[in-house]
Amino acid sequence: MERIWWKDAVVYQIYPRSFMDSNGDGIGDLNGIGARLDYLAWLGISVIWLCPIYRSPNDDNGYDISDYQAILEEFGTMADFDRLLAEAHRRGIRVILDLVLNHTSDAHPWFIESRSSRDSPLRDWYIWRDGRDGHPPNNWESIFQGSAWTLDPATGQYFLHLFTERQPDLNWENPALRHALYDMVRWWLGKGIDGFRIDAISHLKKAPGLPDLPNPWGLPWVPSYEMHMNQPGVLDFVDELSRETFRHYDVMTVGEANGVSPEQAVEWVGSARRRLSMILQFEHWTLWSRDPHASLDVVALRKIFTRWQRTLHGRGWNALYLENHDLPRVVSRWGDPARHRYESATALATMYFLMEGTPFIYQGQELGMANTEFHDLAEFDDVFARNRIAQMRSEGRSDTDILAELALTARDNSRTPMPWDDTANAGFSTTTPWLTVNPEYREVNVAAQRAASRSVLHYYRDLIALRAAEPALLDGRYDALLESNRKVYAYTRLRDGRGFAIICNLSAAPARYRHRGLVLRHEALVLANHDVNLHDDLTQFALRPYEARVYRVEAG
Ligand code: GLC
Ligand code: CA
Repeated sequence: MERIWWKDAVVYQIYPRSFMDSNGDGIGDLNGIGARLDYLAWLGISVIWLCPIYRSPNDDNGYDISDYQAILEEFGTMADFDRLLAEAHRRGIRVILDLVLNHTSDAHPWFIESRSSRDSPLRDWYIWRDGRDGHPPNNWESIFQGSAWTLDPATGQYFLHLFTERQPDLNWENPALRHALYDMVRWWLGKGIDGFRIDAISHLKKAPGLPDLPNPWGLPWVPSYEMHMNQPGVLDFVDELSRETFRHYDVMTVGEANGVSPEQAVEWVGSARRRLSMILQFEHWTLWSRDPHASLDVVALRKIFTRWQRTLHGRGWNALYLENHDLPRVVSRWGDPARHRYESATALATMYFLMEGTPFIYQGQELGMANTEFHDLAEFDDVFARNRIAQMRSEGRSDTDILAELALTARDNSRTPMPWDDTANAGFSTTTPWLTVNPEYREVNVAAQRAASRSVLHYYRDLIALRAAEPALLDGRYDALLESNRKVYAYTRLRDGRGFAIICNLSAAPARYRHRGLVLRHEALVLANHDVNLHDDLTQFALRPYEARVYRVEAG
């Protein structure tokens, strides 16, 4: 089989604002990332994905871009970027950037020109419509709360924004706009970067005529995306984008593709199509967002992952992830940081990391970081959280109630500064950081976990090394075991009859593993997060809370 580098890769996602501050202004920056490359090389990851680093008014922390070809001043200069890229490459680490093509900032010169008059040559680069009797053109709700339309008084028309009102949507129906974006994409590729994570790519196409939604609300706090997500025709855009840009370079492309099913994903990432390398799907975490209070439903999770694994095996490629900058920490969502931090962080890691696909680690996940503590609504920085607060207040909900919900769901939970050590500001900065450090940093930090003989960090490093060394973990077939078990997530990865059995108790209670078809041997244990009792009968044994084991196996 031909080895493709991005299939072998492990991606490490960096939120630049919170990774490392090099110049003492409390904000992470490019030189800070450069200063921590040796740590990333030690960990063993092969690709870094940088969340947006472009010039931006920071309404949505960089996802509102005002200049695609300039670096945000707070993060450094283009020369700093070039140096970071060279320094990463020197260590064998590739760099992919976040590419936001669905919208720009309202401060982007294109939008300033577009809004200047109805006859502007760039008017059609954004989505402008007349209102309906003093109301917005349709009933779409913004993903970040409120109407998806804002009236621009100067020209008397509304513009569409699926996210905040400072993030106007680009009109992908306009060919000149599309080609202006392709020029920009090629400019970055020409610099020698290694690819892109493409933001909100399944939203590029809107339903023709922008019709009203039959029911604008999906879940109580999530509007319906029905008219602007994964619409027929979106793949034509993806196809053209790829043809005009990526396909001519040896790069990795990862689409953030909410709403795309595994069967449809074959069209997005199928090797025959050459559109994208992989997509970030949303199904597994909507299990959580549908009910943030519920504990993990192992059966439902297995169903989702198993379908993605089976459908893409031999036809496409999966991106594997549990965390990112839009989600609260996974040990807080699905583990038990108070009683079983090490065990739950490592069991969840073992479960997803050894599936078929390219694993992604979000900064701090490798430490088992938990959600942070919020005491006051004023502490929330994220625009989505602030919009939610306004919305819930208007519904008459009490501040205590709002705080309780956001403590569980806010994106700020995963955006706190990276804890490097137990000194002031967690070694992230010499001054007070832009967002308060998670108070657990005195125990949960890189230096402490590197020094400890047993830590989540060492476990992740072992997982990375194991995956790199074993072809069966790259493209061996995935088969779920114990398919109705409500605590244990177990599966095999086999290639020519040899490979691994991965067994994870994903609950805080003891569980039982029982399977006769598979022969497990004590000598073949390659990774575990608990000491294993060598007297265990390996056809049926007890698993402690969040116990995870990986055995080398041969099919019988
Ligand atoms: C994506 C990003 C998120 C951002 C949104 C709008 O979902 O991951 O952080 O707010 O797009 O660009
Ligand atoms: Ca800084």
